[in-house]
Amino acid sequence: MKFFIDTANIEEIKQAHLRGWVDGVTTNPSLIAKTGKSREEVIAEICQIVKGPVSAEVLATQSEEMILEGERLSQIAENVVVKIPMTEDGLIAVRQLSEKGIKTNVTLIFNAVQALMAAKAGAYLVSPFVGRLDDVGTQGMELISQIVQIFSNYSLTTQVLVASIRHPLHVLESALIGADVVTVPFAVLKKLTSHPLTDKGLDQFLKDAGLR
Ligand code: G3P
Repeated sequence: MKFFIDTANIEEIKQAHLRGWVDGVTTNPSLIAKTGKSREEVIAEICQIVKGPVSAEVLATQSEEMILEGERLSQIAENVVVKIPMTEDGLIAVRQLSEKGIKTNVTLIFNAVQALMAAKAGAYLVSPFVGRLDDVGTQGMELISQIVQIFSNYSLTTQVLVASIRHPLHVLESALIGADVVTVPFAVLKKLTSHPLTDKGLDQFLKDAGLR
């Protein structure tokens, strides 16, 4: 399973990259806005650090404009993946961008048939939002199971990128289900390596060794 970091914060990306936690990066307009910089500036900066897929989301909502914007974004760096919202116009853009050899990540997916239609359009990645489903009382990880099963049934090559991750259990369940990628906020990444019993055990070792 690949680990992407879900942020536009350069310092977080650097710190996570140092730890080997960054196979790719996902951004969205809200994450970009937090930086106070232009989308193009941030994506270019990220692509200097990370050589894996870096998702940059279009702001246009009409297919023709999405395609033009997607082409421009893809020219920032060879590892840019164009993020497209799960709409009919978005699928028109996905089809045409993928025919041009431009990779797309279809985002804001909340059910399995949306994911299936995005894969049918030629998406490179699909981003089902598990945390936002949990937030409204729906089993977000159940959606991941459905998508992984459907894609396996038909040997679809579109990769399942679990997004809107809120805690380590989302990562654990994604791995158990067999998702291709998780995109994880930095704060959650940092929770994946720690355990109180590890700290307690190390402390005791050092005390017994007379070092504490
Ligand atoms: O960036 C896509 C997705 O991971 C954002 O999810 O719910 O944390 O805004 P959320």
